[in-house]
Amino acid sequence: MRTVALQLGDTAPDFEADTTEGVIRFHEWLGGSWGILFSHPKDFTPVCTTELGEVARLKNEFDRRDTKVIGLSVDTVGSHNEWSKDIEDTQGQVLNYPLIGDPDHVVANLYGMIHPNALETLTVRSVFIIGPDRKIKLMITYPASTGRNFDEILRVLDSLQLTAKYSVSTPVNWKDGDDVIIAPAIPDDDAKVAFPKGFKTLKPYLRMTPQPNR
Ligand code: BEZ
Repeated sequence: MRTVALQLGDTAPDFEADTTEGVIRFHEWLGGSWGILFSHPKDFTPVCTTELGEVARLKNEFDRRDTKVIGLSVDTVGSHNEWSKDIEDTQGQVLNYPLIGDPDHVVANLYGMIHPNALETLTVRSVFIIGPDRKIKLMITYPASTGRNFDEILRVLDSLQLTAKYSVSTPVNWKDGDDVIIAPAIPDDDAKVAFPKGFKTLKPYLRMTPQPNR
């Protein structure tokens, strides 16, 4: 039976799960922060090991953005605890965020992280960015063979946080500090007030302004 897949704007499903930092209730754990939930196919696998180390290395970057990170793999917390020693050994990083144990696939199924035509029973590499309103703001799915680029995930997070606060969007390849696009719905007169640094009109629908919070 197929269930309807999660979509952007949906409330992130709540759940209770055991993690390497104890039992959590997901929404309670998120509190009023942004959150990133990301899945791994399996413990003791090479690409996953590098990814978990990288997220630990970037933890202060997520903290700076008031964003909690939590991983998931369809093995037990006992297995995760054993695996974390290898992450420390090979990546030089202590696991400094929780990893959900999901041997019964409860959370993986809630979030549609198992794509049977790609990997029969393991989770693919899913990323969900969740806003403080607990709505899903972004979903990305990678196959098991491709490690994620967590710098890209930070870049997207910057865009999501900026566009949640200001009536702007971010252009192709934008990164924090670059010029942004004023929402086309804002008339020029209002844009002059809202964006006192000024703006350049390339087309009536394409007006560029310096990043407002910089
Ligand atoms: C890996 O992390 O390297 C991996 C995990 C599951 C399937 C293929 C690769």
